[in-house]
Amino acid sequence: MSRLLLVTGGAGFIGSAIVDEAIAAGWRVRILDSLRPDVHGSSAPEPEGGSQVEFVAADVRDRDAVRQALSGVDAVCHQAAKVGLGVSIHDAPDYVGSNSLGTAVVLSAMAEAGIERLVLASSMVVYGEGLYREGDRLVQPAPRSRADLESGRFEPRSPHTGEPLRPMSIPEEQPCDPRNAYAATKLEQELLARTWAYDGGRAALLRYHNVYGPGMPRDTPYAGVASIFRSALERGEAPRVFEDGQQRRDFIHVRDVARANLAALEWTDRVERGTTRAFNVATGVPHTIGEFADVLAAAFGGPPPVRTGEFRSGDVRHITASADRIARELGWRPQVGFDEGVREFAHASLRTGADV
Ligand code: UD1
Repeated sequence: MSRLLLVTGGAGFIGSAIVDEAIAAGWRVRILDSLRPDVHGSSAPEPEGGSQVEFVAADVRDRDAVRQALSGVDAVCHQAAKVGLGVSIHDAPDYVGSNSLGTAVVLSAMAEAGIERLVLASSMVVYGEGLYREGDRLVQPAPRSRADLESGRFEPRSPHTGEPLRPMSIPEEQPCDPRNAYAATKLEQELLARTWAYDGGRAALLRYHNVYGPGMPRDTPYAGVASIFRSALERGEAPRVFEDGQQRRDFIHVRDVARANLAALEWTDRVERGTTRAFNVATGVPHTIGEFADVLAAAFGGPPPVRTGEFRSGDVRHITASADRIARELGWRPQVGFDEGVREFAHASLRTGADV
């Protein structure tokens, strides 16, 4: 009999890609998903996955439902979370409830059930502005000033010389610096997982970079830039590229993220009890937002992107990752190249349903 994996949030964009990958790897899967209406719409159908998949419709904060969902489970892939940057501080209670409390409930039920293997969906947002070089020093700069942004000085600057700092790839051991409610709860999820693992658990913390691909939700106030650009093109509008378009991100395809989860699950079977480890899930090859917009618009056959010079307060400038640890320790490497992935995304279907 194959082993049973619980995927929380398994009906979502990333969760459902993990479910497919897990089945292909020989797992039986149980999905725990609340099908929350702000993500799935008010009349979302339950996901179908054939005989290898069971579905439990419940929230991760529901202790009894989580206890029942863990029955017979060998490992947990915890993806359920409220995502995105948030609109204002009024989102904070929902982030803390869904993400921090939800994780605490899952971990406590796992401890009760004696389940020792966890893969947690974390995010690059735990790093804040990321890592820069000034001469031979590494620095994690403070938020950019409004005055700088308004005058088009988008690069973080040295507090000493005023010169632009040079962006670097961030490794996992860099201190975290969460800068919004969502980021704070992602870090809290990591810390809770670490606390749980001290008592004999094994936890992989996967810091996803900018995930895109088929099944991504259409744009909402909480959506990432890939979905916003793609949704604009579908409306016949040009993608609006903020700042000067030179800000860098690491775009990672959802199928590669799913494969990283499977590699992390295998890792939890071979490391010692009490081990927690963070991994960047990234290609290691940064691209600019302007470049993403250009390739996507061309592949879609839509109007070329416009560079608007607008900025969003709270946005970080560059955030790119070192993908060395995940390659070395999990043996994972991305398989979907940037051009190939973005071209596929230009014509892939997006999820509809959110009532926002
Ligand atoms: C995003 C997610 C974050 C997630 C992380 C990793 C959001 C809002 N942020 O962070 O939750 O953890 O990826 O997967 O979901 N931009 C434009 N035009 C637009 C919108 C955005 O040019 O219409 C620019 C922004 O100014 C920014 C960049 O695109 O420079 C990326 O924006 P976005 O995807 O929203 O946020 P991230 O900081 O990358």
